Amino acid sequence: MKIIVTKTYEELSRKAANLFASQLILKPNSVIGLATGSSPIGMYQELIRIYNAGDIDFEEVVSFNLDEYIGLSPDNEQSYHYFMEQNLFSHINLRPENIHIPSGIALDMEVAAKTYDKMIEEAGGIDIQVLGIGNNGHIGFNEPDVKFEARTHIVELEQDTIEANARFFNAIEEVPTKAISMGIKNIMQSRKIVLVATGEGKAKAVQGMIEGPITPELPASVLQLHPDVTIILDEAAASLLSK
Ligand code: GLP
Repeated sequence: MKIIVTKTYEELSRKAANLFASQLILKPNSVIGLATGSSPIGMYQELIRIYNAGDIDFEEVVSFNLDEYIGLSPDNEQSYHYFMEQNLFSHINLRPENIHIPSGIALDMEVAAKTYDKMIEEAGGIDIQVLGIGNNGHIGFNEPDVKFEARTHIVELEQDTIEANARFFNAIEEVPTKAISMGIKNIMQSRKIVLVATGEGKAKAVQGMIEGPITPELPASVLQLHPDVTIILDEAAASLLSK
């Protein structure tokens, strides 16, 4: 694990974006794995800036998002489809047919999950995946559990995740209780992983991820086994690390 601690969110965002940008410069037809949540927003803004400066191009890029709430249609402002459109896709030249986000409204969610795995496989796997981390150590929507879920699956969200994500909704009752998420194997098979985390609220999960035992009770701890993971933290998120 490479660990980088930055002074500001802007610096963290620039560093994460630069890792993505260098991937796209070296391999213009990269398959990129994208995440939602507030943590990668700065990185997306920086990628848009680099794109506008003419240094990267998304023409041949294929993208796969980690997850989506079940029950929210793409035009729902709280959906991850909507989030990605607002924060990244509407600003760059990624082709709509190359964008993949799990469907939250498929008639058969199990089939949708299997189809998603197949599409990732057929695209040749993910070259670089960005991750945030939940307060409870979740990645994507892989919640603390007694076992790791390998593939794209349906998740029952934890109460603390619902509470943490309620800030994006009008009322906590509006937060969906289920989601569809890539599994741990999907994430671990990405050739490179960049995880970004900021703020004191993430410090405990970050410490467990880096210094704790590898356990499905703190899903991000599995990243200790990945050969190419870069963790970019601000000082608050890094504050409980021993060195
Ligand atoms: C959600 C997403 C995760 C994200 C997490 C943290 O639960 N499914 O992918 O990492 O929130 O979000 P934030 O970055 O807003 O703290």
